[in-house]
Amino acid sequence: MKVLIVGSGGREHAIATAVAKSPRVEKIYCAPGNAGIASLAECVNIGAMEFDKLVAFAKENAIDFTIIGMDDPLVGGVVDAFEAEGLKVFGPRKNAAILEGSKAFSKDLMKKYNIPTAAYENFDNPEKAIEYLKTAKMPIVLKADGLALGKGVLICNTLEEALAGVKEIMEDKKFGTAGNTMVVEEFMTGREVSVLSFVDGKTIQIMSSAQDHKRAKDGDEGLNTGGMGTFSPSPFYTAEVDEFCQKHIYQATVDAMAAEGREFKGVIFFGLMLTPDGPKVLEYNARFGDPETQVVLPRLKNDIIDVMEACIDGTLDSLKLEFEDKAAVCVVLASDGYPLAYEKGLPITGFENFEGKEDYFCFHAGTKFNENGEIVTNGGRVLGITATGDDLKEARAKAYAATDWISFANKYMRHDIGKAIDDAE
Ligand code: AMP
Ligand code: GLY
Repeated sequence: MKVLIVGSGGREHAIATAVAKSPRVEKIYCAPGNAGIASLAECVNIGAMEFDKLVAFAKENAIDFTIIGMDDPLVGGVVDAFEAEGLKVFGPRKNAAILEGSKAFSKDLMKKYNIPTAAYENFDNPEKAIEYLKTAKMPIVLKADGLALGKGVLICNTLEEALAGVKEIMEDKKFGTAGNTMVVEEFMTGREVSVLSFVDGKTIQIMSSAQDHKRAKDGDEGLNTGGMGTFSPSPFYTAEVDEFCQKHIYQATVDAMAAEGREFKGVIFFGLMLTPDGPKVLEYNARFGDPETQVVLPRLKNDIIDVMEACIDGTLDSLKLEFEDKAAVCVVLASDGYPLAYEKGLPITGFENFEGKEDYFCFHAGTKFNENGEIVTNGGRVLGITATGDDLKEARAKAYAATDWISFANKYMRHDIGKAIDDAE
């Protein structure tokens, strides 16, 4: 079959790598893709938000199966656009992608269906928010309702910071219309775990757990980023945690969406906080996480097309999701200065070191070919250097060793990805 993948990051490179392993797939296209994805797929110069062009491309090229990697097109209704033309597509429809698209929606859903999450209030009026904050306990968390590239969350230690936050989100509209509504949420403490799952509308099967590192600098300092590295599985995701989440969070979320007439098919990403009072949902995403996908999919044993098809067909209960009994660590190589200003267009060398090595992956995030055909940097997050190993320590040592194989002028990375692995001992 012919497969089209929509997106251009490390997540899409990891998805393309999994798809390329399927004996059912004869050709992969990716829109718009990047220089790494180009080694597996034919990259097509169509943006992820150009729904008409994507649909037209799929029809003209007889694409059998389309996979949407990114959040923006899902929230904008790309799946509905494909389905309207009778095309097979993996991802939630617009009315289900709202699970990620609106934090106010997801908080109200959790409250209505008793899914554990932080206490909160939603506001669409800044004065009311300010009034509420004056009597609230600090620290407190402010969240822009809509999509904000993972940056619309402010943790405020004092009332002053909180008032400045209201101004930023609701009045100055730093995150655009995402800040028309704002969630004010109780501050929680604990370890964070990311759990990705496949969902077919009724059945949910979770993938191996992972942990992200969102801050730019070592020691969890610096600004929030899209994610500077991940490891999987998380040693803190114990059998006990899993049992609790299976009982109170995963199926409950799928059932809640179905009960609301918003049947969810695709990937639900549960951002969990393991608080002293038990696991609680920090956030939902309606897609694979990035870089979480880079440490999860390389260990998936199933044919990913079979799994995705089962999600669309509502037959996920007839399939058993299986992962290799290994660990994986991903260290992101970024452009120095990310997530603020950074230089692009710098040549990258060393890719040949990854050739023929089954347990090492160099997933491309922000790369492209320049006019001379060289691979150059083209974004804040440039590459995801991933290695698998028998345990987390081995995977981490291998991933860090492999970061030396790649060179570019403004290469930047965190040196403490997976430090929690030592804490777990
Ligand atoms: P989110 O996009 O909702 O996952 O938030 C981004 C990050 O902010 C999370 O990964 C947490 O580190 C932090 N965060 C969000 N909500 C809370 C909360 N209620 N308490 C503490 N930290 C939070
Ligand atoms: N790594 C977090 C995310 O994909 O949202």
